[in-house]
Amino acid sequence: MRKILFVDDEPNVLEGLQRMLFPLRKEWKMAFANSGQKALEILAQEEFDIIVSDMRMPGMDGAELLSIVRERFPRMVRFVLSGQSDRETIFRSVGAAHQFMSKPCDPKALKSTVDRAFALRDIFNSPTVSETVSRVGTLPALPETYAKLVKKLQDPESSVADVGHIIESDVAMTAKVLQLVNSAFFGVRRQVNTAVQAVGLLGLDTIRSLVLVAGVFQSASGKKMPPGFSMEALWHHSMMVGGYAQTIAKEMGLGEGIKSECLTGGLLHDIGKLLLASGLRDEYGTAIKRATQEKRELFCIEQELFGITHAEIGAYLLGIWGLPDPIVESVAFHHKPGECQGSGFSALTAVHVANVFANWEKARDETSPTLSFDQNYLERAGVQESLSKWENACRQLNPKQEGDT
Ligand SMILES: [Fe+2]
Ligand SMILES: [Fe+2]
Repeated sequence: MRKILFVDDEPNVLEGLQRMLFPLRKEWKMAFANSGQKALEILAQEEFDIIVSDMRMPGMDGAELLSIVRERFPRMVRFVLSGQSDRETIFRSVGAAHQFMSKPCDPKALKSTVDRAFALRDIFNSPTVSETVSRVGTLPALPETYAKLVKKLQDPESSVADVGHIIESDVAMTAKVLQLVNSAFFGVRRQVNTAVQAVGLLGLDTIRSLVLVAGVFQSASGKKMPPGFSMEALWHHSMMVGGYAQTIAKEMGLGEGIKSECLTGGLLHDIGKLLLASGLRDEYGTAIKRATQEKRELFCIEQELFGITHAEIGAYLLGIWGLPDPIVESVAFHHKPGECQGSGFSALTAVHVANVFANWEKARDETSPTLSFDQNYLERAGVQESLSKWENACRQLNPKQEGDT
């Protein structure tokens, strides 16, 4: 039985939760705390699998509580259930929470989110994944500029210029971020020349994602890669999938938060390839060769050779880095979204579709195999009717299309 601890300072919210979640009492063992302090006392007595905390509480707030929980009980899954969409507090808890949900939430949504969180943890705890991870060697650390940026964003006094200057202090990083911003996939119509300008134009959420992906590629750039593996091509593909996924979210008319999840998931969806290519160079070289010779998808060969694919290993790394669950999930299941529980549109939907669109673009001029949609999943997500509209919107971003006859 899963054990869940709820924390909220308002007694009627806790009572409401208790009443609402009563039908789940056979599946979950639940405890309720009315302050951060009380929650820590309960945790000192007894282990829990999940903590669901309010953000704004007197004394110890949600961000502080979850940071302590992360330190003391790293295996616990941490959710924020917050009534206010206070962007600043959300920024403050980056890395401390796996998932944000807004109040009021119905038991079905909460249950599905909890189930999905456990499905992800199953990947993290799978012996095949950890065995491959240990063979890959040391996993890359969170890019330094990203870590500095997250820290700066926690400071309520920080300005757009401060954030821009942190990026600019890293010249290689700035070049990569500007390359992303100015790429056609991003849909920014005017030339952006400085990081400060980019922050002002795109907002903190987006910039944070760009800095992360730029840092990841930058740290891999000095490494020896197997023959047939092109960093350049992966970078281009990642930008395309990120841009497409963001466009799909825009087409859906969704808010900034989920738009940014779609973008980040798209930019990072194939990050596992970097890990496998640099960490298991020879074997990955063999996988690439076999995929070309047999005209099969690389991830299918990976599955045969390693027992897992770049999707799981990429998700594993992002999980360690503390990225929010919806992003990690979009990476973990991007080839097989049907394996993810839950229904409705999420970052996973956008990344899965964007990756297939990007693969179609590639297949136009190469004899690579063509990826296809998971039709059952798309039906479950209720988005099949939107596909052609999404495809048109994504095609408009593609620079190749413009001069194409
Ligand atoms: Fe992939
Ligand atoms: Fe991909």
